[in-house]
Amino acid sequence: MASAMRWVDPGPWLLPLWLFLQMVVGARAGFPCVPRVVGHKAMVCVCNATYCDTLDPVSLPPLGTFAKYESSQDGRRFELSQGAMRSRPTRAGLSYSYNPFVHYQTIKGFGGSHTDAAAINIMRLSPEAQDRLLRSYFSEEGIEYNLLRLPMACSDFSTHAYSYDDKCPNDYDLTCFSLAPEDTKLRIPLLHRIQALSKRPLSLVASPWTAPAWLRTNNLVMGKGRLKGAAGDRYHKTWASYFLRFLDEYAKKNITFWAITPQNEPVLSVYIAQKNFPTNQFTPEEQRDFIIQDLGPALAASSHKKVQLIIHDDQRVNLPYWAKVIIGNSSAAQYVSGVGIHWYLDSVIPPEPTLEATYLLYPDFFLLYTESCNGFRSWEPKVDLGSWERGNRYSRNILTNLNSFVTGWIDWNLALDTEGGPNFVQNYVDSPIIVDAFRDEFYKQPMFYHLGHFSKFIPEGSVRVALTSQCRIGICQLQSAGFLRPDGVAVVVVLNDGFCDIAFSISDDQVGYIEDTARAASIQTYVWQRSW
Ligand SMILES: *[C@@H]1O[C@H](CO)[C@@H](O)[C@H](O)[C@H]1NC(C)=O
Ligand SMILES: *[C@@H]1O[C@H](CO)[C@@H](O)[C@H](O)[C@H]1NC(C)=O
Ligand SMILES: *[C@@H]1O[C@H](CO)[C@@H](O)[C@H](O)[C@H]1NC(C)=O
Repeated sequence: MASAMRWVDPGPWLLPLWLFLQMVVGARAGFPCVPRVVGHKAMVCVCNATYCDTLDPVSLPPLGTFAKYESSQDGRRFELSQGAMRSRPTRAGLSYSYNPFVHYQTIKGFGGSHTDAAAINIMRLSPEAQDRLLRSYFSEEGIEYNLLRLPMACSDFSTHAYSYDDKCPNDYDLTCFSLAPEDTKLRIPLLHRIQALSKRPLSLVASPWTAPAWLRTNNLVMGKGRLKGAAGDRYHKTWASYFLRFLDEYAKKNITFWAITPQNEPVLSVYIAQKNFPTNQFTPEEQRDFIIQDLGPALAASSHKKVQLIIHDDQRVNLPYWAKVIIGNSSAAQYVSGVGIHWYLDSVIPPEPTLEATYLLYPDFFLLYTESCNGFRSWEPKVDLGSWERGNRYSRNILTNLNSFVTGWIDWNLALDTEGGPNFVQNYVDSPIIVDAFRDEFYKQPMFYHLGHFSKFIPEGSVRVALTSQCRIGICQLQSAGFLRPDGVAVVVVLNDGFCDIAFSISDDQVGYIEDTARAASIQTYVWQRSW
């Protein structure tokens, strides 16, 4: 933006004219939600073959004004309103100061996981409803996800356990390697459609849950176990080749990956109760040695050398120890780009000694959340249809983590059925989109909209900037984070997960003051242009 362009007061005519046009043309942000009340204070937006709510591309309001998108427990979904910036504050209380010159981490993005369960549920809908679901997540009329995680072969969210080489025992040359029908008939056709309707570049991450039975200590494709042998041996060389074959086979279908993780939950799998859960245990030392001796060199010598390696892929309680063992070793670190984290213990493990400690030790390696979902605790309902609180949990976690140097957040299953599956070890959970194939409907839960308040407005390449708060009087329990987009636009997300409305202001030295109220049980994203 031209530095000569200075902010001028919108003037006596410009702002009223614009607000008038908004009224005439309609300040709608897209087609509205068709609500269905499904319980006490619980509501979903219903979509089917002929109708789904949409969210238009973000159109920037004129300089000196701001756009606000609000979703709330009482039924607002991305409701768009505009306001004028004030030239001076008119009230005390909670005030934020937005400073786009103090930069923290660069944002990679937001997304979900293309599991077998997600693909099965999506494919059970009519083609028109499928299309509306995919558009809701990936298109410009949706929340514009740019990240997708794919299990390499089965996860527990499959209908059965399998790897890509189950037919030939001791197949060290991987001559029997082949993608599963889940890939070729479900996930890949859907990926092609997702690619066709995404405007933003997609970044795909692949993670294995388990390995072929003949590579594993229990000689089964599922259940507790680990790779036979040790780094550098025939088992580990074969396991590294298996990653490359996976990347090759997907590349043949025109699908390339941004990153891989060496193993889903290498630590947590030790503690998982379900007997047949697909796992591979690794200690950090074992993962380090597998990277140094097998996976790192194999990737670097292949046509996939640009594929980034994300270590860990497990709960933050293991940090910074895992990072110290792997990234602290320069022979391993040369192959590594970032650290993957899952959210399941976040409510009991604070971010400072884990995420922030890792960032401070290794600021050149990104932190990325690679899996999160609600309904995973044994005492909770699996699917809790319409729960606003589950949306709050997502936003609280995303805001906390973004403020602790995390660069992005990948949700778990893109879509599940009304039971929270399918899952072959009955480990059912919740999802932002629940599919009812019998009715040819799908339900966008509050979690979907909470995620959209980030994914839609904070594109890849945005940077988190300073947003400092001062509270002189009153209740100040809002959570927030500030961003500067690559196009120079300012974004602030504000969450009120409490029971009362909270007034606040945001100052931007060069443009003015936003004064607003975050209503009880609401989330809002503010967007404004700056004079640079
Ligand atoms: C789809 O949803 C729209 C909007 O709620 C409704 O008017 C229409 O009847 C629904 N179609 C079917 C087949 O249920
Ligand atoms: C892969 O993409 C290229 C270029 O976009 C296209 O020409 C080709 O037909 C695609 N191949 C497949 C198998 O989709
Ligand atoms: C990295 O770890 C390996 C053990 O696998 C060790 O032999 C090597 O000395 C370590 N390198 C550094 C630089 O710490």
